[in-house]
Amino acid sequence: MTLPSRWPAVLQAVMKGQPRARQDSHYPQWHPAPVTGLMNDPNGFIWYAGRYHLFYQWNPLDCDHQYKCWGHWSSADLVHWQHEPMALMPDEEYDRNGCYSGSAVVNKGELTLCYTGNVKFDDGGRTAWQCLAVQNAAGGFDKLGPVLPLPSGYTGHVRDPKVWQQNGIWYMVLGAQDQQQRGKVLLFKSTDLQCWHACGEIAGHGVNGLQDAGYMWECPDLFELDGTHVLICCPQGLAREPHRYLNHYPCAWMSGDVALESATFNHGPLHELDAGFEFYAPQTTLSADGRRILIGWMGVPDGEEMLQPTREYGWIHQMTCPRELQFREGKLYQQPIRELTALREEEHQWQGHASDAPCMEAGRVEFILMPDGPLEVNFADTLWLSVDEQGIRLQRQSLKNDEMLVRYWLGNVTSLRVLCDCSSVEIFINDGEGVMSSRYFPQHPAQIRFEGASVITLRYWSLRACMIE
Ligand code: FRU
Repeated sequence: MTLPSRWPAVLQAVMKGQPRARQDSHYPQWHPAPVTGLMNDPNGFIWYAGRYHLFYQWNPLDCDHQYKCWGHWSSADLVHWQHEPMALMPDEEYDRNGCYSGSAVVNKGELTLCYTGNVKFDDGGRTAWQCLAVQNAAGGFDKLGPVLPLPSGYTGHVRDPKVWQQNGIWYMVLGAQDQQQRGKVLLFKSTDLQCWHACGEIAGHGVNGLQDAGYMWECPDLFELDGTHVLICCPQGLAREPHRYLNHYPCAWMSGDVALESATFNHGPLHELDAGFEFYAPQTTLSADGRRILIGWMGVPDGEEMLQPTREYGWIHQMTCPRELQFREGKLYQQPIRELTALREEEHQWQGHASDAPCMEAGRVEFILMPDGPLEVNFADTLWLSVDEQGIRLQRQSLKNDEMLVRYWLGNVTSLRVLCDCSSVEIFINDGEGVMSSRYFPQHPAQIRFEGASVITLRYWSLRACMIE
């Protein structure tokens, strides 16, 4: 049964909300963000028929985690995006509490979405259906309905299908919670996307020797990269350590060898994927020329999320920039995609003591820095980055109280590449060996200043604005 249409309410929310969000000095000028309402996970990231498609979890009606739809953008170059018809709304019984995250595939030439239909019951229980939808001639999507009910042995928390094809067979990984409340990644296979066979648990608590790995794993993504396999996932409930997993919900990766026939993944330890304050639920795809590209949500569902000041302007959250992944010497490297250099305006260069360096306007700017000794970068008196022989400390004040919050990246820092937008910074350390992504909310106009006696070599550019069309 189809539920009553919320189209009029969505249309009104967008008409009223878009001009309001654009008045916010914190609204991103080159990162994808919702025109109004709340955006979270990237979904269905794929290159299809000459364009990239990026779908996203979107509540157009309000800045909260209700009414999850799939919004849709497309791009020829991963830099300039355009709006596409909204793809999915929660208007069927089997997805009535949200069209939750998932992926896109090309099946028999048709763009097909695999997503989770989330259903909550009045008694507090819940279930989840893995569902399909296929693109129609108007660019929208027709739902094909559920193809997989809740597998037995798991709670209602089974979601976020990432589907791919290999040797003519479809595979799907799902994030899950078992009946003992332990986080897992499940593997399924199919010959037609309709009928799915459970292959087993390929990762999670108690699998392949992993212990204390949390109560629920969300948004798994499994792929081959430079001769190894990488699993990205969001294990909820990992213990905080002194210098990592400090976000309420972290995002992690592991590498090793997958054998799909036996549903086994022989892997190494978990590593944090991004050490900044805001990063979650990323998704990858292959570019037209075979690069593995990742986009993440620059947000975390935590207690501070709802205190972000952009909610006063009726919108919240943005994506990260697209990143190119490489696997070298046992490490996962992330670099901003090379296409982003198209946004650079005139190049400036400077060398000298950090405290004498030119200030930059906090906003659309990129800088590359080689430090030679301890250094501080002050982002508009709102976010502070310190580099010393231990590594990096990134600090900002809590939005709740006076507490200073810190995130760390430990190691020898030889270079920093920092990409800024009106309310975000993405710090790429040592050509992508580490990344720290964070939002910040300066009072514009504001400045980025360098401090400390160390000698730095600096290159910097302002970046062109590039709003979604
Ligand atoms: C991750 C997540 C997913 C879910 C979606 C709902 O942020 O919780 O597991 O599918 O968000 O919006």
